[in-house]
Amino acid sequence: MKIAVLPGDGIGPEIVAQAVKVLEVLRAEGAKIEMETAPIGGAGYDAAGDPLPDATLKLSREADAVLLGAVGGPQYDALDRPLRPERGLLRIRKELNLFANLRPALLYPELASASSLKPDVVSNLDLMIVRELTGDVYFGQPRGIEVRNGERVGFNTMLYAESEVRRVAHVAFGIAMKRGKKLCSVDKANVLECSELWKEVMIEVSKDYPEVELSHMYVDNAAMQLIRAPKQFDTMVTGNIFGDILSDAASMLSGSIGMLPSASLDENNKGMFEPIHGSAPDITGKNMANPLATILSVAMMYRYTFADLATADRIENAVKNVISQGLRTSDIWTDGTQKVSCSEMGDAVVKAL
Ligand code: IPM
Ligand code: MG
Repeated sequence: MKIAVLPGDGIGPEIVAQAVKVLEVLRAEGAKIEMETAPIGGAGYDAAGDPLPDATLKLSREADAVLLGAVGGPQYDALDRPLRPERGLLRIRKELNLFANLRPALLYPELASASSLKPDVVSNLDLMIVRELTGDVYFGQPRGIEVRNGERVGFNTMLYAESEVRRVAHVAFGIAMKRGKKLCSVDKANVLECSELWKEVMIEVSKDYPEVELSHMYVDNAAMQLIRAPKQFDTMVTGNIFGDILSDAASMLSGSIGMLPSASLDENNKGMFEPIHGSAPDITGKNMANPLATILSVAMMYRYTFADLATADRIENAVKNVISQGLRTSDIWTDGTQKVSCSEMGDAVVKAL
């Protein structure tokens, strides 16, 4: 198994180093893992003048899976748009055809008090957002800023081909089948034609999954319901931009965005795995970031790309174990628990493994 390791910017290298420790334990036990590191994002720009250097893309194409840290930082904000770190991320998603983005939101019982919602609203929360990742207003043409009638206008195009909706629908129904068999498709079909098509295709695909109960919700209501009563959801599926927004909202239900992994998969379950949080420039280099989302991303790599559920469970259990020992990085620390650094947390997971 060849893994391309792309630490990226900010806290990326610190958290990825902890996930690599976990992979090294598995390798020492005999797993055949090869890891190679390459720059992406601002680090790619610094190394090769490109947020997705050719060599990084080539390595990622040839790998079975990609482990990514985070991209972005204030020092890159003034660059031309095509050179910005975020573009590297968007391009690698597109180039590798990673159209299905899985973003779980799971509450660890011990962290209930870290959620900003009342414990009974979020206790035992376990929801999965499936976000379409390579279409929508993120990639639709035309796009740009130009002068019309003597003033500047900015424009983007929200666009989905039915084949794009269909393939992510199949992924979402497949995941719902393995979970609570309830799928909520989120759209804005009361206003947008693009959403109208989305909804029609969801209904068509649902015929292949008679056991799954499909519902539809407008995105504004979904945002409200996620805060009001998140446990009504089991699996959600939505387009790129709605999923971007809703998945950040959902992440906070679980107390810390530092706990949540993600998987971005192509047609063959090859994938890129990354924490859903960003590069956190404010705490970079302080050895205080939470590495658990990245370590849990390795668990998702085992679950979805390597189809090794036992190892995935084992990594997830090691994380549960350190949480129940009371070890906390500062983002999830509360009175009475033990504050640890990023690398101490990584060591603790290795020990628990
Ligand atoms: C995410 C991020 C990215 C996105 C940014 C960094 C381009 O917010 O992965 O959710 O908008 O997709
Ligand atoms: Mg986002």
